[in-house]
Amino acid sequence: MCGIVGYVGKQKAASIILEGLKRLEYRGYDSAGLCLLQGGQLDLAKKAGRVEVLVKEVARHRFIGTTGIGHTRWATHGGVTDANAHPHISSDGKFALIHNGVIENYAQIKTFLLTKGYTFKSETDTEVLCNLIAYHYAKEPDDGGASRLLECVRKALRHVDGTYGIAVLGVDFPDELVAARKASPLLLGVGDGEYIIASDASALISRTQNVVYLKDGELVHITAAGFTITTLDQADVSPVVDKITWTISDAELGSHANFMEKEIYEQPVALENTMRGRFSEDGSTANFGGLNLSAAELRQIDRFMFCACGSAWHACLVAEHLIERYARLPVEVDYASEFRYRNSPLDRNTLFFVMSQSGETIDTLAALREAKRKGYRVLAINNVVGSSIAREADGGVYQHVGPEIGVASTKAFTSQLLLGAMMALYVARLRDMSFNDGVQYVNALKGAPDLVRKTLLQAPHIKAIAERYSGYSDILFLGRLSLFPIALEGALKLKEISYIHAEGYPAAEMKHGPIALISEKCPSVFFVPKGEIFNKIVSSMQEIKARKGKIIAIVTEGCELPAGLADEVIPIPDCHEAVLPIVATVPVQLLSYYIALKLKCDVDKPRNLAKSVTVE
Ligand code: M6R
Repeated sequence: MCGIVGYVGKQKAASIILEGLKRLEYRGYDSAGLCLLQGGQLDLAKKAGRVEVLVKEVARHRFIGTTGIGHTRWATHGGVTDANAHPHISSDGKFALIHNGVIENYAQIKTFLLTKGYTFKSETDTEVLCNLIAYHYAKEPDDGGASRLLECVRKALRHVDGTYGIAVLGVDFPDELVAARKASPLLLGVGDGEYIIASDASALISRTQNVVYLKDGELVHITAAGFTITTLDQADVSPVVDKITWTISDAELGSHANFMEKEIYEQPVALENTMRGRFSEDGSTANFGGLNLSAAELRQIDRFMFCACGSAWHACLVAEHLIERYARLPVEVDYASEFRYRNSPLDRNTLFFVMSQSGETIDTLAALREAKRKGYRVLAINNVVGSSIAREADGGVYQHVGPEIGVASTKAFTSQLLLGAMMALYVARLRDMSFNDGVQYVNALKGAPDLVRKTLLQAPHIKAIAERYSGYSDILFLGRLSLFPIALEGALKLKEISYIHAEGYPAAEMKHGPIALISEKCPSVFFVPKGEIFNKIVSSMQEIKARKGKIIAIVTEGCELPAGLADEVIPIPDCHEAVLPIVATVPVQLLSYYIALKLKCDVDKPRNLAKSVTVE
């Protein structure tokens, strides 16, 4: 939530910051703003609306400075207005600040600052922090130390409860910028005579691949001559410069109309990348070097716990199904946001997993910390290298699907499904799964990218269906076993990008309540796989049909549905149970995508949402 970017260098900062903001816009798009330090003053432009609105506003200014900060907002405190847009300037005009996170004790600090004569133009928590820095600057004598800007920011942050990724400029500090983080992502790009701070790498990758991932409680002080990193307690930190492995073209649309389409079509390659190098030489199991857990240790585990949010939570539900079925170990899946407050008893031999594309989802991070606090070893399945979750986990597995920019998770979700299936295989092979069954399972997983390619060929057919169904206001998604979570995912996808109300249910549960919704006005999407529950699902479909509900059936090839039962049929390839959820996801992604396009919704930036949820 919220994207921040800052620049110190020799180039004009405005265009670099605006480019960064365009790339960070998926993190929040309620308003955008920019502030440059030039000619001994802070020049500000900010507007409610998207970055394109800011670009027009910036054209009316003369922005030539080489030091600046910019922000794209997902509103928390205060409505979507110009005044609430960042950057905020302290009421004495001396400091400008951008912020991603929430200052929880802002009200107390504001009351205090009002007594000291500071005034406020916005309803935000952020402006309070900006004025608090100004207060420390006015109050503390110049002790001749290295940087008063750094020290005033540090002092202010010591009084702050909550989360932040911030960047600060001071009118008395030309060519200086101070940035800091606590539970909100922040990295420093180290370029050729220039430094860029940003919420994520997409904002700086066009200028450098060399980055320093800041840790919680660290502050970076940047000048034209270099940078230093210290902690809130004033300890020096030796920076570790990492190299980003992807390039700018991975974060660009290419020939695609939007990122959601691009990322849906990237899935076959993304799955290949997720699997690469992760099967044993004998082709009978998976390898996960990053778990930092020996086979012997893993054999001691008698229970798994998974925590995640949103689509990642759905992927965990599929992992639960596969681990229980193939490894015969109990698995519990919880919403990270619930787990952290639930005080759930965990026994000693539980292996705790968190799953998160971004690695920055605050609830998932908090669940990880809570589990670690209780003494558990926590492993992470995560896409963004260097993310908070990746760094705080005791081990884990990277998804390797490249940047996912569309707010609706697509390629990251199917990659999470794949890793869950691989984890089930890995643990199963340490227990009762035979060599031959392992080889069969591995071959099935290796075939997944081609099956997804084949399913993507259904796009024109699904588009035509989507156009017939875009006028409905409620749609049910119904599935069983490992496809129940895919029903949840289908409903979430449709809701988030088309704003059509949708619910996912286990198909047989439908008659315990949701069937009351069924009429000719509420169609259902059924997952109808071959196998033991085929007839049961057909019965559920009959119950819908008897109540005049229209049916879109996603059916594995080779299954014969009773004539006339489904109004629409989308065939998917027959495949191994471990691969089925991946293949079955593609039609619901495309269905939601084309319905949203038909309704002229912005699929990449749906209303009220942001890609990574870094506030509670
Ligand atoms: O980055 P994470 O995987 O932790 O994100 C979790 C959810 O916020 C995310 O999956 C969200 O539900 C997506 N918008 C779903 O498309």
